[in-house]
Amino acid sequence: MLISELDTPALLIDLDIMERNLAKVAAYAKKHDLRLRPHTKTHKIPALARRQLELGAAGITVAKTTEAEVMLKAGPADLLIAYPVVGAAKLERLRALAEKTHVTVALDSLEAARMIADAGIRAGILVEVDVGLGRMGVTPDQATLLVEEIIRLPRVEWRGVAFYPGHVKDPNNEQEIAQLQTAILELVDRFVAMRIPAPIVSGGSTPLLWHSHRFDGLNEIRPGTYIFNDRNTWAGGACARQDCAATMMATVVSVQGGRMMIDGGSKTFSSDKLSTGGPGFGEIVGAPGALFHKMNEEHGYVDISKAERGFAVGDRVSVLMNHVCTAVNMQERIYGIRGDEVVETWVVEGRGKLQ
Ligand SMILES: Cc1ncc(COP(=O)(O)O)c(C=O)c1O
Repeated sequence: MLISELDTPALLIDLDIMERNLAKVAAYAKKHDLRLRPHTKTHKIPALARRQLELGAAGITVAKTTEAEVMLKAGPADLLIAYPVVGAAKLERLRALAEKTHVTVALDSLEAARMIADAGIRAGILVEVDVGLGRMGVTPDQATLLVEEIIRLPRVEWRGVAFYPGHVKDPNNEQEIAQLQTAILELVDRFVAMRIPAPIVSGGSTPLLWHSHRFDGLNEIRPGTYIFNDRNTWAGGACARQDCAATMMATVVSVQGGRMMIDGGSKTFSSDKLSTGGPGFGEIVGAPGALFHKMNEEHGYVDISKAERGFAVGDRVSVLMNHVCTAVNMQERIYGIRGDEVVETWVVEGRGKLQ
């Protein structure tokens, strides 16, 4: 099938770019002896998780137990749920998962660890430490106390620590990197001093990916966005424009003076802003002067008064999205392309798996 035969909006993945991204990160992890446990929240497709495992990933990461159920299809020998599993229904799912593969849960409280232990589930635990994002995670002081308590719980096994440096958007900010280096080293040293060295020290995000080897003590990385990259990854400087594999193809449905509408709005695109600042929900490829500035559910408003080219009803445009992960989660299917052809159609099986 040709791309021109696809209906819109349609999220397209350039397979050559995706394969290059996957191979580059797999080679980097191997070279620096880092376990790669990619976060599958970006693609939510078991076939792509399988590809990551084929290329040497030691396991995969998910956020939710229902996503984990979907990702079992990829056959991971090791599955990290990088999110506390709290609540009876989720614990039941965790129990079933733990019977099928090696499962680890990242959490930041004794309560959450006890829920797993009290439910009699055999699972690994990573204690999450806050390294600056201010989202989840205990302080390094609290981490050692929490680990001492978790070690005493039955059935669960403490496997190490996890952190997510989502606050660092600029990979060239050496000051933030230095702070993170110190924080990780101090954390690791605490456990060494207590004579319980952490077997797993898991971190990593796409913006900091290529600096991972500079963090002494870090032995596992969990990037997610790197498989496709997006406008935010590019704008932040963690990838080049030619490393962005995903675009949304949309159709122009109205042109009125300096304004056009495309056939996708907030039910198609992520509403994330550009993390480096600046307006727009994505770049219109080939016409960066066009400003995709507003969305209703099914309408994308594009100001074309400063666009480099003209547009007419029926034209197709490609949008480089600010944030690809949330956009993928809104699609039933996404398409792998080579040249003019659609060569893969993937059902986004993990779409909407939020529990
Ligand atoms: C806990 C955790 N680990 C890893 C990642 C992957 O980071 P990135 O999307 O920058 O690749 C995320 C992203 O949200 C995350 O929340």
